[in-house]
Amino acid sequence: MHELDPQKLPRHVAIIMDGNGRWARARMRNRVFGHDEGARSVRDVVRTCRELEISYLTLYAFSKENWQRPEAEVKALWNLLKRFLRSELPELVEKEVRLLHLGDTEDIPHDVRREFQAAVDQTAGLDKLVLSLAVNYGGRQEIARAAALFAKDVAAGLHKPEDLSPELFSRYLFTKELPDPDLVIRTGGEYRVSNFLLWQLAYAELYITETLWPDFRRDQFLEALYDFQKRERRFGRTSDQVQDTKSCRAL
Ligand code: IPE
Ligand code: IPE
Ligand code: MG
Repeated sequence: MHELDPQKLPRHVAIIMDGNGRWARARMRNRVFGHDEGARSVRDVVRTCRELEISYLTLYAFSKENWQRPEAEVKALWNLLKRFLRSELPELVEKEVRLLHLGDTEDIPHDVRREFQAAVDQTAGLDKLVLSLAVNYGGRQEIARAAALFAKDVAAGLHKPEDLSPELFSRYLFTKELPDPDLVIRTGGEYRVSNFLLWQLAYAELYITETLWPDFRRDQFLEALYDFQKRERRFGRTSDQVQDTKSCRAL
């Protein structure tokens, strides 16, 4: 395993956890078996973030589009989320992890909503890692919702339309308390964003691996972080400018 530079770790990692169904099918099992095993990868990645002192981890757990799956699978996913929240809460508290929900609350089954809210409330004061679960989340829906909220504030006289800037708009998103992701990981080998954090990904580094989510554990995560450390983040500038800024900072 390669050496990670602790100075160059991403502040915010976001993950599209994909490939549970294929993982299960390869073992001649039901798709739900893959989701259950995927929960262990979540635990591993959360623990690794704490160990490395990464401040923000965002996981895509259920998209707006996932409602179109067979009813039994959707039900199993809600059940899994409820069990996961219940079983992980003590460790989250112990490790000082704050839990957040990104997405619409309505439509989520009441019992899951209650469990989720209780976990969010119980971890509210913690700050070593912010773990955000994107559940019943869609990037386009989030942007449309933010636009509607801003329009309401304009109607109420709190803002003028011309006040709107990217910074102000960001405050109407579910992610208002989070910095933009530095690194986005997608497991399962698909080269698409599937309606995840469309606004926030503007300058994220993308890492796509064929590894299926249930097989994505600590070592695979470290490999992704190592790959991130080799990237040069230019934010529109030239490579020379970036190198210059670095040497200036070093002086
Ligand atoms: C990701 O795995 C989990 C969710 C989307 C909830 P999938 O269930 O999409 O697995 P594949 O892509 O079918 O293998
Ligand atoms: C993306 O995975 C959504 C989540 C990981 C929750 P999907 O499996 O739903 O994505 P598509 O349908 O292949 O784009
Ligand atoms: Mg999938």
